[in-house]
Amino acid sequence: MEEFFELINKRQSCRKYLSKLVEKEKLVKCIDAARMAPSACNSQPWHFVVVNNSELAPKVAECLQDKIMNKFTSECPAFIIVIEESGNLTSRAGALMKQQDYRSVDLGIATEHICLAATEQNLGTCILGWFNEKELKKLLNISKLKRIRLVVAIGYPENYDIRKKVRKSIDEISTFIE
Ligand SMILES: Cc1cc2nc3c(=O)[nH]c(=O)nc-3n(C[C@H](O)[C@H](O)[C@H](O)COP(=O)(O)O)c2cc1C
Repeated sequence: MEEFFELINKRQSCRKYLSKLVEKEKLVKCIDAARMAPSACNSQPWHFVVVNNSELAPKVAECLQDKIMNKFTSECPAFIIVIEESGNLTSRAGALMKQQDYRSVDLGIATEHICLAATEQNLGTCILGWFNEKELKKLLNISKLKRIRLVVAIGYPENYDIRKKVRKSIDEISTFIE
């Protein structure tokens, strides 16, 4: 129980990476953790492209940054690209009937599983929602018809100091009805 909360506290956005390459087995474990994530109607509407290649990673980084954002990704050795798949018929029908975006929710949960699995293996991560989707699809040969929803930067952190989390209080974010 304590270990779970410690893991949550240890996970933080890492924006400084060592150039050290990430072992493939560790990345496979991250994908396995994503695979175990819950999804609406068990639809599993995801595909993950894992870039762990010293020539390709800087090219991916170029698609993630502009003048202001995500400059730090240039130093990052690996990325997991989170692609939305269409999912199964029941989840699509449910989303339509209930006017809910289950697929984005599912991808968010799976992405956090990736980050926690990486943290457990002493890797640092940063979830990225700011990227040039068109260029990234072109670079990785991903169909124009698909959506890339998130990218996870992943690698060995330059340091392991845990920052204090800046978060709203429990009272601000919750209402208990007893
Ligand atoms: C959907 C999403 C998109 C994000 N996009 C970016 C991004 O493009 N660049 C970045 O540096 N951080 C990005 N972040 C990281 C957040 O800034 C970070 O999670 C938040 O400030 C809390 O800090 P912590 O992760 O260190 O706890 C993103 C996080 C999420 C969940």
